[in-house]
Amino acid sequence: MTQDEMKQAVAKAALDYVETGTVIGIGTGSTANYFIDQLADIKHKIEGVVASSNASAERLKKHGIPVFDLNAVNEISVYIDGADEVNRHLHLIKGGGGALTREKIVAAVSKRFVCIADESKWVDVLGKFPLPVEVIPMARSYVARELAKLGGQPVWREGFITDNGNLILDVHNLRIMEPTKLEETINHITGVVTNGLFARRAANVLLLGTKDGVKTIK
Ligand code: A5P
Repeated sequence: MTQDEMKQAVAKAALDYVETGTVIGIGTGSTANYFIDQLADIKHKIEGVVASSNASAERLKKHGIPVFDLNAVNEISVYIDGADEVNRHLHLIKGGGGALTREKIVAAVSKRFVCIADESKWVDVLGKFPLPVEVIPMARSYVARELAKLGGQPVWREGFITDNGNLILDVHNLRIMEPTKLEETINHITGVVTNGLFARRAANVLLLGTKDGVKTIK
């Protein structure tokens, strides 16, 4: 199985977690895109979707799937999204596509978070993938200095603006032994909107695409 076939397989498996008659949340990235494409076949089963990015919202609309503003929705039954790294506690690094803040908001509202990922994302220790941090533009240099004090090497994702009009610093060379603690520490730096660690709100279920098929990890 190729990496793309594994992504397609987990996207298909995630359809089983879609509850009839509810609003669901959908993330961003190539794996989430495969899920959106598969969801089109059962779109009549759901009320609609809250999307974590403008890109996903556009793709959903092209399929004729209703997209709701989060403020118009009281409840999201399940959030389905990919990840850049995942460990055995289902702590994640996300934000490779720069949509981390909206992803974290939709995940926070959702009753259940189903992460869909191919086996290349599975790690013992988070941090090989540079940790994305969304930053208010005027605070970029200050936040970068503070992140360096934590032992990482922040690199400005030049030319990239988030859907919220902010910047991304990608923090290299972290070996994240305490994901929840680091998530909180970084979020306390003034000027940080949020960071790509999903440890306080980890995934509830991981559908991991492997060469032997889809593994379900809870
Ligand atoms: C988007 O901001 C990220 O959090 C994605 O979930 C992550 O980058 C996974 O993307 P792929 O599914 O394309 O690997």
